[in-house]
Parts: sequence; C-alpha cells; structure tokens
Amino acid sequence: MRKIIIAGNWKMFKTSFEAVELVNELKRTLSDVSEVDVVVCPPFTALAEVQDVLLETNIGVGAQNMYWEDSGAFTGEVSAPMIKAIGVQYVIIGHSERRQFFGETDATINKKIKAALKHQLTPIVCIGEVLAEREGGKTFDVIKTQLDGSLVNLTAAEIENIVLAYEPVWAIGTGKTASPAQAQEVHKFIREWLTKKFDAAIANKVRIQYGGSVKPENTAELMGQPDIDGALVGGASLKSDSFTAIVKNCLQVI
Ligand code: PGA
Repeated sequence: MRKIIIAGNWKMFKTSFEAVELVNELKRTLSDVSEVDVVVCPPFTALAEVQDVLLETNIGVGAQNMYWEDSGAFTGEVSAPMIKAIGVQYVIIGHSERRQFFGETDATINKKIKAALKHQLTPIVCIGEVLAEREGGKTFDVIKTQLDGSLVNLTAAEIENIVLAYEPVWAIGTGKTASPAQAQEVHKFIREWLTKKFDAAIANKVRIQYGGSVKPENTAELMGQPDIDGALVGGASLKSDSFTAIVKNCLQVI
C-alpha cells in the first residue's frame, strides 16, 4: 500500500519571516498526522529556517529546484550537496514553470534527477501536458515522451526513490482541476509505463501525485482514485488552513 504524500510548492512566495510563521502554524495543526507524508517546499532563502522549525516533526522539507553539478562556476545556481547539508530531504524537479520560463528539458531534468538521487534527495519529478496538447488528443504521447526522456537510464532501485507528479499545465493556478477520472486515466497510463519499463512490483511502489488546483474540496475524491497517491499543491499550500484541510481530507480515503 502506497502512503499518500502531500507536498506544498510555495513557488516564489514568502520571505523567510513569513515562511517561519506558516510552518509554525503547520507544526501545530499537522503534528498529529502520521498517516500521510507531508512536505513543504519553500524558496531557497527560507529553506534553512524552515528546516530548523520542522526538525524532529513529521513534516518534511523540499527545495523547488537544483543544478546537477556538485559545485563550480555556475552563478546563481544551488547544488544537491548544498541542499542536503541543510537537512532537506526532497527536491522538486522539472516543474512546468521551470520548463516554460527557464528552458528546462527532459534531458536537463534527467541530469538533475540523477544528481539528486546521488545525494540521497528524493526528487519529485513533474510531468504534464499543456492545453493545446490535451485538446489535440496528444496527452498520452506527451506524457510518454516526458517519461522516456526524463527517466532515461534510471535503475529499478533509483526509480523506487522517486515521486512522480502528474500536473496538467492547464490546471495549474487556473482553478480548473482535472476531473478525478481524467487524472486517474493519466496516472494509470504512467503506472503502466513503469510496469513495462521495470515490472509490476516496482510500478506498484512508485507514488504518483496529482497537481493542478488541488483544494480541500476536491482532495478526497482525487485521492480516492486507485493510482493517485498524493498531491503537489501550489496556491492552497500558502495558507495554513487550506493546506491543513487538504492533508486532513486525505484521511477520509485511507
Ligand atoms: P496550483 O499549483 O495548486 O496553484 O494549481 C500546482 C503546482 O504548480 O504545483
């Protein structure tokens, strides 16, 4: 049985002061939840302070991006060992906003995944189609290409340490959620891809999150789908009450 994992992607929101305020609240509201893995992903500038507040709690911490080299002349970049040294356990890789605004490709995403795994960080790897692709009936082709490219040359042991996040780009920040059936259909496709590439036992272990306008009201129905194992939450992760409600609503389907 896969444990549900709810991760908050704060994007470019919150100063370190605001970040500490929010995680202090989450520490209070979510300290009794052990049935669900909970992760927050603040901006780099708040990572260390957030990690300090959440030390010895059941809430994990993730970065939102990283570079694949360990160190070097790469102005403005942050490496896996730097993130790891703070005590952080997760890193979001290949979010659609990074693909769209910062030129990330499946090839660079693959390098980042490998670097994260080498340093025992759990990558949360994002994939998803844009609206024109969905409307053009290309969703499965796009997902397959992204999986083939970003997960190329990964071993079975490595794939087990990855979390995948299916995020239809047209549902991100738009208030338009994929219906549970639409999301389940793609999640099932992703699990079948994993089965073909590895085997059923491995495919059954990999957690696949859904992302795109997840809110307290749609959480239980989405999490109730057989192949949806969590959520990557943007907007609704920025407030303690909505993020707490999302986590707690998962308990209805466990
Ligand atoms: P959203 O963002 O929940 O605000 O749609 C999700 C994401 O980008 O990960």
